[in-house]
Amino acid sequence: AGLPWRKWWSSIQHTNSSLSVSVDTKAVLPCPPDTPTALVVTWTISPRDQPPCTRAHRRDNNETSERNCTDARISWESRPDQNPALQIDPVAITHDGCYRCEVAAADGLFGHTYYLRVLVPPKVTLFRGINGTVVCRAAAGKPSAQIFWTPEGDCDTEEEPLGNGTVTVESKCHWEDLQVSNVSCSVSHVTGNKSLFLELETG
Ligand SMILES: *[C@@H]1O[C@H](CO)[C@@H](O)[C@H](O)[C@H]1NC(C)=O
Ligand SMILES: *[C@@H]1O[C@H](CO)[C@@H](O)[C@H](O)[C@H]1NC(C)=O
Ligand SMILES: *[C@@H]1O[C@H](CO)[C@@H](O)[C@H](O)[C@H]1NC(C)=O
Ligand SMILES: *[C@@H]1O[C@H](CO)[C@@H](O)[C@H](O)[C@H]1NC(C)=O
Ligand SMILES: *[C@@H]1O[C@H](CO)[C@@H](O)[C@H](O)[C@H]1NC(C)=O
Repeated sequence: AGLPWRKWWSSIQHTNSSLSVSVDTKAVLPCPPDTPTALVVTWTISPRDQPPCTRAHRRDNNETSERNCTDARISWESRPDQNPALQIDPVAITHDGCYRCEVAAADGLFGHTYYLRVLVPPKVTLFRGINGTVVCRAAAGKPSAQIFWTPEGDCDTEEEPLGNGTVTVESKCHWEDLQVSNVSCSVSHVTGNKSLFLELETG
């Protein structure tokens, strides 16, 4: 009994990769080891905090099956008999997690795991606060944004996690130097950078 199993296990090839996608976009996850001898293609979909669901397609009788799959935003990209890619449309913050594709073929098991990270661009605002401060806020970003000021001021920066994985970063500054008449706030984030400018009241 041991021998066939040893042969079976020795032909497993599994790879993995990290994938970052923006919220509200469409993501397509190819199943890379698509071999002509594929018998069954199985996706195991494990978003964080949710029970896993599986979707499978059998080549010999062209049969698709699914178990525990309730999220209508996750589906085969097209026809699994032609292309076993998975599609998430639109991507939501709850889709963070692990997506494993496995191909059982005549010559072994092949698979690929995606570690999916959902990115949310922050909403950036720059406005006057109380007592002559200027406030730059990068709201509800994932991961949290970084705020830089030009020129550098006397700043107090706070991060507030919002519970759904996003974070609001707020930086409050003032400038002792009365020569400073224009300030800019630059927000750096994986989804893109943004700069806003404000003219200070003088006198
Ligand atoms: C992903 O693959 C890399 C390189 O093959 C490996 O070092 C790493 O342990 C794998 N990670 C997981 C979680 O399987
Ligand atoms: C497989 O099944 C799908 C849906 O039932 C059908 O549209 C498609 O033509 C079938 N493909 C083959 C190769 O028989
Ligand atoms: C604003 O400035 C006044 C006077 O310096 C001070 O008493 C007050 O605490 C400041 N308010 C805040 C929110 O920092
Ligand atoms: C996360 O939660 C905050 C606060 O409730 C909300 O404003 C924001 O839209 C949420 N973000 C996403 C991507 O669901
Ligand atoms: C955004 O800003 C950071 C820090 O200044 C920089 O390293 C990065 O290259 C910038 N990204 C883009 C897309 O411009």
